[in-house]
Amino acid sequence: MRKPIIAGNWKLNKTIDASIELVTLLKRELSDVDEVDIVVCPVFTSLSAINDVILESNIDMGAQNLYWEDSGAFTGEVSAPLIKDAGCKYVIIGHSERRQFFGETNQTVNKKIKAALASGLLPIVCVGEVLEERETGKTFDVVKTQVTQSLAGFTPDELSKFIIAYEPVWAIGTGKTATPQQAQEVHKFIRGIIAEIGNDEIAAALRIQYGGSVKPDNIKELMSQEDIDGALVGGASLKPDSFIALVKGAL
Ligand code: 13P
Repeated sequence: MRKPIIAGNWKLNKTIDASIELVTLLKRELSDVDEVDIVVCPVFTSLSAINDVILESNIDMGAQNLYWEDSGAFTGEVSAPLIKDAGCKYVIIGHSERRQFFGETNQTVNKKIKAALASGLLPIVCVGEVLEERETGKTFDVVKTQVTQSLAGFTPDELSKFIIAYEPVWAIGTGKTATPQQAQEVHKFIRGIIAEIGNDEIAAALRIQYGGSVKPDNIKELMSQEDIDGALVGGASLKPDSFIALVKGAL
């Protein structure tokens, strides 16, 4: 009932040519997959070129960030209408790297989600605890605060457009994946919060991705968990073979 969604977060990697090369291969090799939503999230400078490649394919595109104002004197920023104009369907908001290195907070995440929805973009909202929080038993408190503050003030109709990505920070780029059980208990917890702030129907339909060292050899076990509906993939999305294997592993 919930369609799996596998998204590649390419982070700060790949020239325009390298991006086109990768997505051209993905398009060719994954053209017959219709049971999984496939998303690539390249750097801003590649968005328009990638959009030309994926037109009329089963691959969608997302941006990795946005600024909440539409236009004006905000040197260096990129807004939701411009991302939409470049061909994006999705936008990642509140990735832990943005929280860690660029001062992103639950309040800025909230503003960015509003801007994304106003432009018709589907937000992929990232939450997740750091290692110290996990080790001191604060995971559920941290995730609850992130989810409730980031998603404050949205109507049930708006909440139905969200995707949430649970990415434990200690599992990102470290090779340490959360066990399927560790991920499942947090995903279930997040679904429960959505039932409280939205309703049961929205919670049941909400897609929650896991992120953090997802690889072809662990995708099946992760996806076998009841509340894991896909993956947000960093490193393993940069090579055609591993991303193709990940999408097929989610079938
Ligand atoms: P890795 O898959 O490289 O651990 O990165 C996960 C991530 O941050 C996806 O957004």
